[in-house]
Amino acid sequence: MMYQVSTVAPTVVSTVAEPDSARPHPARIYDYYLGGGDHFAVDREAARRVIDVFPDIVPTARASRAFMRRAVRYMVESGIRQIVDIGTGIPTMPSTHQVAHAVAPEVRVAYIDNDPIVAAHAGSHLLGVANTGFFLADLRDPQTVLGHPTIGKLIDFDRPIGLMMSAVLHFVPDEARPAALVAAYRDRLPAGSRLVLSHATADYHPSQSGVDEARAVHRDHRAATTVTRPYEQILGFFDGFELEDPGLVQPPLWRADGPLPTAGELARIGGYAGVGTKL
Ligand SMILES: C[S@@+](CC[C@H](N)C(=O)[O-])C[C@H]1O[C@@H](n2cnc3c(N)ncnc32)[C@H](O)[C@@H]1O
Repeated sequence: MMYQVSTVAPTVVSTVAEPDSARPHPARIYDYYLGGGDHFAVDREAARRVIDVFPDIVPTARASRAFMRRAVRYMVESGIRQIVDIGTGIPTMPSTHQVAHAVAPEVRVAYIDNDPIVAAHAGSHLLGVANTGFFLADLRDPQTVLGHPTIGKLIDFDRPIGLMMSAVLHFVPDEARPAALVAAYRDRLPAGSRLVLSHATADYHPSQSGVDEARAVHRDHRAATTVTRPYEQILGFFDGFELEDPGLVQPPLWRADGPLPTAGELARIGGYAGVGTKL
């Protein structure tokens, strides 16, 4: 397949209504944790309620996002030229394609999220950039995601692919069999492809109190709740991949490019992150 610069038409995005500012929204709440500017008063109020009961949500979200950027740079520097980013989120700067294109402008990035609010923001931030595309789909339907025309235009399944599932699988309950879903994507990837994955855990917050209260706030607002998982279960998502150094670790410990966090700072990070290479 020839790699040519192209822009994918935002057909799905054009059907999305104006963002609903009356109800708090998980993607906008997350943007608030990250320090972004895409949120309304209702989102800020809900976010502050979560932060009150579980202040560690802020360093955890920021550490996860920082990991994502380092992981994208790592993948592209090691030769990956096409990325499928599932669970895009509101594109807080820099987004996946911005990190990738700073290293290699020819990198193709397909963004997928199941949330029309994200699509609305993607419309203003992402689309129109050469070599990127965004579409609405649910990761629980790998056939639809992988068979989507935007994937067809951007991604060549005969060459290594960077599959990103950053801070998204914890929205998939056990009943939806997240490990089987990751395996379904893995089975379509050629050898040498990468999996970038980060996931929330309660391993560092064993008392669970703040975690449960934060969940209750999300439930009150009818926002998606997070399923925290222990180390072993998150490690299982890398089945069929060889973990790159330093393995599955708290996000700030993954190939840090600045000063390492103190033990006190690390104790506040409720997540794991890793990058695997398909065998
Ligand atoms: C916490 S944000 C993560 C954003 C970004 N990947 C990051 O690491 O900063 C999670 C995103 O996943 C999306 N999401 C949640 N469940 C999903 C699903 N089943 N299919 C596709 N996207 C989903 C949400 O809409 C949200 O935008």
